[in-house]
Amino acid sequence: MLILGIESSCDETAAAVVRDGREVLSSAVNSQIASHRPYGGVVPEIASREHVGSFPVVVAEAIERAGISWTDLDAIAVTHGPGLVSSLLIGLSGARALGQALGKPVWGVNHLEAHVAGMFLDPAAPLPADACPAIVLMVSGGHSCIVEMLGVGDYRLLGQTLDDAAGECLDKGANLLGLGYPGGPVIERAAQGGNAAFVKFPRGLEHAKNRTTDNGLDIAMCFSFSGLKTALLYHLKNHPEDRERHLADLAASYQEAVMDSLAMRAERAVKATGARTLACVGGVAKNAVLRGKLDALANRQRARLLLTPLAYCTDNAAMVAAAAGLRALAGLGNPPAVEADPSLPLVEEIADRP
Ligand code: KG4
Ligand code: ZN
Repeated sequence: MLILGIESSCDETAAAVVRDGREVLSSAVNSQIASHRPYGGVVPEIASREHVGSFPVVVAEAIERAGISWTDLDAIAVTHGPGLVSSLLIGLSGARALGQALGKPVWGVNHLEAHVAGMFLDPAAPLPADACPAIVLMVSGGHSCIVEMLGVGDYRLLGQTLDDAAGECLDKGANLLGLGYPGGPVIERAAQGGNAAFVKFPRGLEHAKNRTTDNGLDIAMCFSFSGLKTALLYHLKNHPEDRERHLADLAASYQEAVMDSLAMRAERAVKATGARTLACVGGVAKNAVLRGKLDALANRQRARLLLTPLAYCTDNAAMVAAAAGLRALAGLGNPPAVEADPSLPLVEEIADRP
């Protein structure tokens, strides 16, 4: 089954061709980072304008690099949420126009499910059925949560951030440190050679126990990053000289606090469920410190570690085509791409589940 994937939920315009949900024949990504950098974050108006320009280019590139012709495609899969509505609509309209012209079905894919599918794009990764049940740490610019994956299309939300997403926290920290945008990679670079124990920043909800959130989640598997950001702000106010003298140490300490709290909650989830697989997906999964911590914890818990290949951590369309392919092969089918849903959830509210 050959699927053309299309992704435009935020600031990457991407297209890819994937065979049978696992084999990437091509993956083209046009990143808009340079256009948004002067503003320190994604500007929706700029993003949608750039998607319009890039869409035909990346789609043609994906087909050409895959060495196939348009008629070889079985279906088109496009992200229909969650994301910026003005960005989603560009990919969605383009995909629907293509589908109509080619006479191919156009399926809607959940961006978060696509990130999960990205972990199976490593040719060495097990089949989803062999990996499940798996604990999936999902960490991106817009989302941070822990889900238990019971099978393709079957997810149980165990925990989530109560405020900022991990990537957002890195973006805000980088801004405070004057390091630029996007925060994750610039903090990782600035932290090289720094002392991660220079400041013991708070880990957020570190001592929270035996409590459930309003939507029924165990607080011990949730995150909170807003205190960390404030702690950095106060540190810089009280020690302005550190910004120059200890930049690497501050970046390393901040990064350590983010990655530590992610790994700590992921370990609790592995212990609580007894899952034998631990996976990490989303843009922050690129981070080497996080990857190292997850490796250590997987060893400790005797779990298999499934890390998304670096090329498919940040937004791309191979993961979108993969998600649609995995669902189709599992016999679940994919919904038709009808409209954009900016707040499409991966899992229904936990309280709604039996
Ligand atoms: O998954 P993604 O591309 O977009 C969303 O769906 O949000 O994730 C983008 C996020 C950004 O916040 C960026 O700072 C973070 O991923 N990121 C990283 C690294 N590379 C990207 N965070 C930590 N370390 C990295 N190397
Ligand atoms: Zn994403």
